Amino acid sequence: VTDTGIIDFGIGQPEDRILPRELLREAAQHALAGPGNDYLQYGPEQGARSLRDALAGFLSRHYGHEVSPDELLVTNGASHGLDLVLSRYTRPGDVVVVEAPTYFFGLDVLHGRYVRLVSVPVDEEGLDTGALRTVIEREKPALIYTIPVFHNPTGVSLSDARRRQLVELAEAYRIPVVADEVYQLTAEPDRLLPPLRRYDPRQVLSLGSFSKILGPGVRLGWIECTTGHVAKLRDDGVLRSGGGASPMTGAIVETAIRRGLQDQFLATVRDIYDRRRRCACEALRRYLPEGVRVTYPDGGYYVWLELPAGTDPRAVRVDALAAGVGFRPGHIFSIDGSFASCLRLCFTYYPEEVLVTGIVRLAKVITSHLPRCS
Ligand SMILES: Cc1ncc(COP(=O)(O)O)c(C=O)c1O
Repeated sequence: VTDTGIIDFGIGQPEDRILPRELLREAAQHALAGPGNDYLQYGPEQGARSLRDALAGFLSRHYGHEVSPDELLVTNGASHGLDLVLSRYTRPGDVVVVEAPTYFFGLDVLHGRYVRLVSVPVDEEGLDTGALRTVIEREKPALIYTIPVFHNPTGVSLSDARRRQLVELAEAYRIPVVADEVYQLTAEPDRLLPPLRRYDPRQVLSLGSFSKILGPGVRLGWIECTTGHVAKLRDDGVLRSGGGASPMTGAIVETAIRRGLQDQFLATVRDIYDRRRRCACEALRRYLPEGVRVTYPDGGYYVWLELPAGTDPRAVRVDALAAGVGFRPGHIFSIDGSFASCLRLCFTYYPEEVLVTGIVRLAKVITSHLPRCS
């Protein structure tokens, strides 16, 4: 709850209280006390070999397929990963396919590289691959940016059939796919489909991040892709000049992985987020009026709502804030102002009782704005 008493479901991050302070202190103590001081030097562009070894072992265990350290490049998080791919694979004016809707800060990163964005709809099975084919044939895009698991903002995951179709298209037309899979590890593997690279590793560049499994301030992540793609990505001025992404943080995270601390925290966040998700979904089912379309997620951070036709979304937002509840308005997730009647709620930031209080407030406001039948 903010200082003003507002329960802000617009905040899309973990709750401060659950972040792994102690665990990282322990990892840092061990990592920084060792005899070596490699981590205080510029490192290799791709990331330290020992970190990539530890990360490959960790990912192999959790993804259920063998991840090679040679196919990993360490980044400062998924945002950096996306920017790096854009800088190495696109020129200003090139077409990049994005989803409608898509992650709004991702759009900021894309705009920063002056590419031309073309969107393809997302439905309950994820990216519409039929529409994608049409766009590919018409626009000849340089890159496809997709969020295949617990999509931000809709919460949906790309279906098995669509995953097959997507990698088939990417291979047929030789278009690299940036798969933003930052939520892949937030749920047990038996509750979701394997990462997109399992379907075809060749054109998929998978973005991962410690933001969702340790904390956003860690600013460390990775790109998993073929060694050919790795070679192209690491040939980057910033990585070369800066000696890879944060060797010191890398040493701490490597220790957290090797000492089992990362696994321990993963189990904790999965449990907390799952309880919060179930609680939020139950409250939405119970308190929202009929006519609001809710996309109930199986995991991740977000629930996507669509207000009934005839409801004024801006007035709902103003009155919701006055009633002490905030959310992200739908239009920010699009390239053209679409989804104005939608809104995104994040369920990971607040404990259950606060989630319920906020949802009750929101439901009351929405109910008061429903178009009256005459
Ligand atoms: C889909 C998606 N990609 C990337 C990010 C940002 O990741 P990072 O902190 O690793 O840059 C987020 C954070 O909310 C996200 O939802």
